[in-house]
Amino acid sequence: MPIRRRTFLKSMGASAFAAPLLLPARLWSSQDRPQQPDRRLENPFVGATFYRNVDYVAAVTAAAQRQEGRLSQQMRLVANYPTFVWMDSIAAVTGGNGYPRGLAGHLDQALEQRANAIGLVIYNLPNRDCAALASNGELHIARNGLNRYRTDYIDAIFNIIRQPRYAGLRVVMVIEPDSLPNLITNRNVGSCREASESGAYVEGVQYAISTLRSINNTYAYVDVGHAGWMGWPANFNPFVDLLKRVGAGIRGGNSKVDGFISNTANYNPFTEPYMTANQMIGGQPVRSLQGWYDWNDHIDEQSYATALRTALTRGNNAYSASVGLLLDTSRNGWGGPNRPARASAANDLRTFVRATTIDRRIHKGNWGNQDGAGIGARPVANPAANYHAFVWVKPPGESDGSSRLIPTGPENPLGRGFDRMCDPIYRGNALNGNNASGALPDAPVAGRWFQAQFVQLVQNAFPAFEPGEN
Ligand code: BGC
Repeated sequence: MPIRRRTFLKSMGASAFAAPLLLPARLWSSQDRPQQPDRRLENPFVGATFYRNVDYVAAVTAAAQRQEGRLSQQMRLVANYPTFVWMDSIAAVTGGNGYPRGLAGHLDQALEQRANAIGLVIYNLPNRDCAALASNGELHIARNGLNRYRTDYIDAIFNIIRQPRYAGLRVVMVIEPDSLPNLITNRNVGSCREASESGAYVEGVQYAISTLRSINNTYAYVDVGHAGWMGWPANFNPFVDLLKRVGAGIRGGNSKVDGFISNTANYNPFTEPYMTANQMIGGQPVRSLQGWYDWNDHIDEQSYATALRTALTRGNNAYSASVGLLLDTSRNGWGGPNRPARASAANDLRTFVRATTIDRRIHKGNWGNQDGAGIGARPVANPAANYHAFVWVKPPGESDGSSRLIPTGPENPLGRGFDRMCDPIYRGNALNGNNASGALPDAPVAGRWFQAQFVQLVQNAFPAFEPGEN
């Protein structure tokens, strides 16, 4: 899940959304479920019991069995929280071709768990992940990709979700991570230029929301990248215009958008607890630090996403004031022994910021399997003003991309590319200020289980996993 840049946690609401106990046996059948559609909710996370992806739970359980003692126990706790299910190909919808089950299989499992909600990621645009290589998709604009996206992917999802037996499930959808942000900053890359000039990303996103939100029990959150990508006015302002244009072209209007999600599969903190963007250190504001914030207006996700929401709910084509924010906290915890506990006393800006920020990355533009990261805040409803929820969209332990070229074959069935931002010996490019990638070694292809990363993410979780916490 690449980011690219320009030029580059809390009070819990009354009703946290909790995961159900996994039922050891089939105590209750989906046929027994009352088929009444839920009334539409402003915040679908309130009072929700989210599905725990049975395949992810199996991966976490297997991971825990490979460890011992406290770490093993902490790993098991991860499986108690819901993660989103990625519909990252047509086969992910139908099942087969390496997917243990398709969308209907997950929805059936959700009913069996007596969940009343499920998180899905809609992620299969033609020319997907146009500025990177690790998560390139199966569809291509030049090969009828937009039509196939509509008919073979979105319509297939629609035909499953709309079945009456799923009417009691709140289907919360994250719409196409990284796609619209790439149209702002990466049109110099051929595949993104094609996505932009053909209109395929905009039309694809509009079709996805128009179609899927015509079902009463679905909720759509549009991906808005993250602060370290879209935070500068040169990116932020055209992005607001683009998001409004996308909204205006949705069948039924932009009220079909329930909110926006930032930091999907990224590592950016919700807040920087020990400093502010405009705090002066040695005569210079924190946000001016070259090679780190580079005069970004927003040094954290809360600041960025809140400003974006404000801009989107004003002026022409304004979104409704009811739109809410989501934050992917699956890997933005930055705990462990290297986490600062207070602001540095240094008077030199660079020394101060690097000793004070909780984000231990080498550069904000780094995104592949970041060394030192930890799981962040647990999924919860109403964590802060204007936030509908903190969610775990990227399932912790699933790779961002391989650290070396893995040819198509058993270790790379979908023919994923090799992006050197996932290669620990790569020295970077203009998008990350020519810094080292900061990626962990020996990573499998995107989406596959990466045990060494999972170990780190659990060890560096913030808050740390405590026995009995869930
Ligand atoms: C990959 C997907 C995967 C998702 C969640 C993405 O980076 O491209 O295949 O399902 O991450 O791990």
